[in-house]
Amino acid sequence: MQFDFAAISAKDRYKLMVSTILPRPIAWVVTQSAAGLVNAAPYSFFNGVGGDPPLISISIEGRDDGSRKDTSVNIRESGQFVVNLVSDAIARDMVVTAIDFAPDVSEVAEARLTTTPSVLVRPPRIAESPVAFECELYQVVDLPHCRDLVIGHILCMHVADEAVQDVERCYIDTPKLDLVGRMHGGGWYSRTRDRFEIPRIPVAEWKRQDG
Ligand SMILES: Cc1cc2nc3c(=O)[nH]c(=O)nc-3n(C[C@H](O)[C@H](O)[C@H](O)COP(=O)(O)O)c2cc1C
Repeated sequence: MQFDFAAISAKDRYKLMVSTILPRPIAWVVTQSAAGLVNAAPYSFFNGVGGDPPLISISIEGRDDGSRKDTSVNIRESGQFVVNLVSDAIARDMVVTAIDFAPDVSEVAEARLTTTPSVLVRPPRIAESPVAFECELYQVVDLPHCRDLVIGHILCMHVADEAVQDVERCYIDTPKLDLVGRMHGGGWYSRTRDRFEIPRIPVAEWKRQDG
């Protein structure tokens, strides 16, 4: 079946993309309003998009009423945010922070999470999260209907001590992070426990096997 993206609605294009581009990592984004209120919300149109400079991207939709989401407003105003990653242990808390609370309600408090101060940016990070990236805004690509493609520059990252194998060599015990990914439908997720290894094949070995 072919789906011609020029012939279908934006809603259908979105549905097709989010039910096939998966599992997606989840950016649990903490921002701070001008008044100092801490805001947290998950975003799965997210990925790392470059190592030098170290960049991540997050796609933030507009609200149905045509306004910007709080995360977008705060990032545009302050130029700072923290991306926390989501482990299986805190996946349900992450979903609580996606509830459409009024702007003066702290999602972090509603989900009974704790925050810890960041080092280089004003918004704090989520203490329960095994990985957090302190970011400053690199660029916003202003898309139609109040949608923002936010590109963030990572200033520093935090990794839970128990998941760091060798600090000098920057070796992380990745399976220990037990991160989850966003799958299809309204509320499906995947764990990252079903892994398999396929070593890279040097060209000389490939030729040997082939001949
Ligand atoms: C797992 C998950 C992933 C989400 N991904 C996105 C996303 O990529 N883009 C988006 O605009 N909203 C996404 N949402 C919805 C926002 O989290 C939700 O609209 C939230 O209330 C926005 O909060 P804010 O106004 O505090 O930024 C996602 C929700 C969940 C639960």
